[in-house]
Amino acid sequence: MRTPYYESTIHRQIREKRENRKERIRGDLELYGGEVLQSDEMKQAYDQTHHKWSTLGEHTMRVAMSSVMICYALRKLNIKVNIPLVVVASLCHDLGMLDRGKFASLKESNTEHPKESVSVAKELVKDLPEEAESIIERHMWPIGETEAPDSLEGAIVSVADKYNAVKDIVKGSEVKHTNAKSYVLDEKEKILEKVR
Ligand SMILES: [Fe+2]
Ligand SMILES: [Fe+2]
Repeated sequence: MRTPYYESTIHRQIREKRENRKERIRGDLELYGGEVLQSDEMKQAYDQTHHKWSTLGEHTMRVAMSSVMICYALRKLNIKVNIPLVVVASLCHDLGMLDRGKFASLKESNTEHPKESVSVAKELVKDLPEEAESIIERHMWPIGETEAPDSLEGAIVSVADKYNAVKDIVKGSEVKHTNAKSYVLDEKEKILEKVR
C-alpha cells in the first residue's frame, strides 16, 4: 500500500512562501506595469512564437518575474534597486519584436528590435524614464554590438533575459521529446491496428 502523501510543516512553509512571493511579484507587475500589461501589444505578444517553443508574451512575463525576483534578493542584501523601473523595462524589452517579419534577417532583428521596443515603450508608458530607454536599448548585451548595461537595473534585465532565453530553449527540447514520444506511440498504435 502506498504511503499517503504527507506535506510536512517545513514543506508547507516553503510552498506558502513561494506562493506569497509569486503573489507579491504579480502585485508589483500590475502596480508598476499596468499600462503595458493591459495593452493590445501585450495581447498580440501571446500570439507570436518566440525562441521557437515559447511565445513573446510568455517570454516577456518570465523575464519580468525573474527580474523582480532578483530585485527582492538584492534588497535583502541592502542593495538599493529601482523596482518600478525594472518592471517597465522588462515588460517592454522585446515588444519591438512584434511583427517579426518586418526585419529582413535574424541579424537585423537582433540589432534593431531594442530600438523598436523603446518606441513601443514610449507609446505605452506615460513619461517613460530615460533610464528605462537605456535598459531596453542595451538588453541584448553581449550579443552583437550592443553596449553593456549602464545601470544595476539594466544588468538585472539583461541577465534575466539570457537566463529565460536558455530556459525557453531547454523547455522546448522537453516539448520536442514529448512530441517525438507521442509520435512513436501513434505509429505503434497504427501498426497494431493493421495486425488486429
Ligand atoms: Fe531582445
Ligand atoms: Fe527577451
